[in-house]
Amino acid sequence: MANLVTSFMLWLCLISYAYITIHAAPVWPRGRSTRFYDFKIQTMTVNKLCNSKQIVTVNNMFPGPVVYAQEGDRLIVKYPYEEHIVILGEYWLQDIVQLERQVLASGGGPPPASAYTINGHPGPNYNCSANDVYKIDVVPGKTYLLRLINAGLNMENFFAIANHRLTIVEADAEYTKPFTTDRVMLGPGQTINVLVTADQTIGKYSMAMGPYMSAQNVPFQNISAIAYFQYVGAVPNSLSLPARLPSFNDNLAVKTVMDGLRGLNTSDVPKEIDTNLFLTIGLNVNKCLSKTPQQNCQGLNNGTMSASMNNISFIKPTVSVLEAYFKGIEGYFTDNFPGAPFRFYDFVNGAPNNAPNDTSSMNGTRVKICPAARAVGFLNKWHDEDGWM
Ligand SMILES: *[C@@H]1O[C@H](CO)[C@@H](O)[C@H](O)[C@H]1NC(C)=O
Ligand SMILES: *[C@@H]1O[C@H](CO)[C@@H](O)[C@H](O)[C@H]1NC(C)=O
Ligand SMILES: *[C@@H]1O[C@H](CO)[C@@H](O)[C@H](O)[C@H]1NC(C)=O
Ligand SMILES: *[C@@H]1O[C@H](CO)[C@@H](O)[C@H](O)[C@H]1NC(C)=O
Ligand SMILES: *[C@@H]1O[C@H](CO)[C@@H](O)[C@H](O)[C@H]1NC(C)=O
Ligand SMILES: *[C@@H]1O[C@H](CO)[C@@H](O)[C@H](O)[C@H]1NC(C)=O
Ligand SMILES: *[C@@H]1O[C@H](CO)[C@@H](O)[C@H](O)[C@H]1NC(C)=O
Repeated sequence: MANLVTSFMLWLCLISYAYITIHAAPVWPRGRSTRFYDFKIQTMTVNKLCNSKQIVTVNNMFPGPVVYAQEGDRLIVKYPYEEHIVILGEYWLQDIVQLERQVLASGGGPPPASAYTINGHPGPNYNCSANDVYKIDVVPGKTYLLRLINAGLNMENFFAIANHRLTIVEADAEYTKPFTTDRVMLGPGQTINVLVTADQTIGKYSMAMGPYMSAQNVPFQNISAIAYFQYVGAVPNSLSLPARLPSFNDNLAVKTVMDGLRGLNTSDVPKEIDTNLFLTIGLNVNKCLSKTPQQNCQGLNNGTMSASMNNISFIKPTVSVLEAYFKGIEGYFTDNFPGAPFRFYDFVNGAPNNAPNDTSSMNGTRVKICPAARAVGFLNKWHDEDGWM
């Protein structure tokens, strides 16, 4: 009974917040603060009085979260109706373990994926895939939380839904100030959570995932994966409205979204820095040393590709660095990782290029040892030694 009353009170609270939002917004006085709250409504098992039962909770809290407000404040409470995990992927027809071995041995880059996928489905743009389509059924008027994950291996990807705007509320496990946009871009391993309200005419809308490729002369899959964002009540076999993705090399489309993201909390960063590191992250082309260059030197200029930090490519040790450090086992790393690059130049436009003896990297398992609990400042620069990125 107590649980019932609590649940009822939670709902009552929600209804009254929704009421405040909807009914008070147009006439709100200026100069007052606006407070944003994100509420996720979900069930939770509680154990009480020798019994367990499911109750409805807000943000998995029981009792629910406190909402702070002063007279005159505007409250905006968002609560998604449902959440869906949307995994953006890459699919190869070949055996991927074999493919990885071949690519590593080749010294070159990986071949383009055979298809992009949304939750494992490529969608109708691909051959034999008219019915291999992921679909989310949505109720008109409801708001959905989509947890977008780029689980692809190589490609950065755009994601958009036809006629619907996406409100970013979280990026890589950090809450963000709500930021509304027409599309988002995710790199491999990145996650972005967006709220989408089904506020359009009842119908079937495409959700699309397509490539973002800022490098030149790199082959990539350019057919987008399509899924459906389908309203309950839409004619099942109706055509879907196409989602508009930016062009694959639209750097501005990326910049306008990413530059708009701000953390929800003012972050508490240390102001006193003990150690400053200046890191460049680069892509190198090394000279071909193989006796079978056709097989092993398929990188740019018949060289072998490698990635580096401060021009040092990491050689994976046979004993983990931390284990070797704590056990004092010698010979698995050297503690001379440089705190700054050896050479400074215009890292964005002036990378050395085309001569394999100047685009090469050093090799090593080098470590920078920092005292524990110290503030370390990083300045990161992306560049490449060959004009690829
Ligand atoms: C689809 O199949 C046709 C005919 O076999 C082929 O020409 C085309 O390249 C294929 N398209 C894709 C995206 O695989
Ligand atoms: C996609 O790639 C194919 C083959 O690589 C090319 O012919 C086509 O023009 C590309 N399409 C777009 C839109 O870039
Ligand atoms: C904001 O920061 C405080 C204190 O560090 C933390 O307790 C709280 O969970 C953070 N809130 C969000 C939304 O990240
Ligand atoms: C790469 O090697 C091939 C022969 O294997 C040769 O024809 C070509 O000119 C070489 N390219 C460069 C840029 O050295
Ligand atoms: C780089 O290689 C070219 C010929 O391959 C040679 O002429 C030049 O001296 C080399 N530069 C350096 C810095 O080693
Ligand atoms: C990186 O190291 C290689 C090998 O020592 C050298 O030839 C190259 O000039 C270095 N590049 C930069 C940018 O320091
Ligand atoms: C680094 O190691 C790779 C593979 O072990 C080798 O191909 C390359 O020539 C090495 N580069 C240098 C600068 O030693």
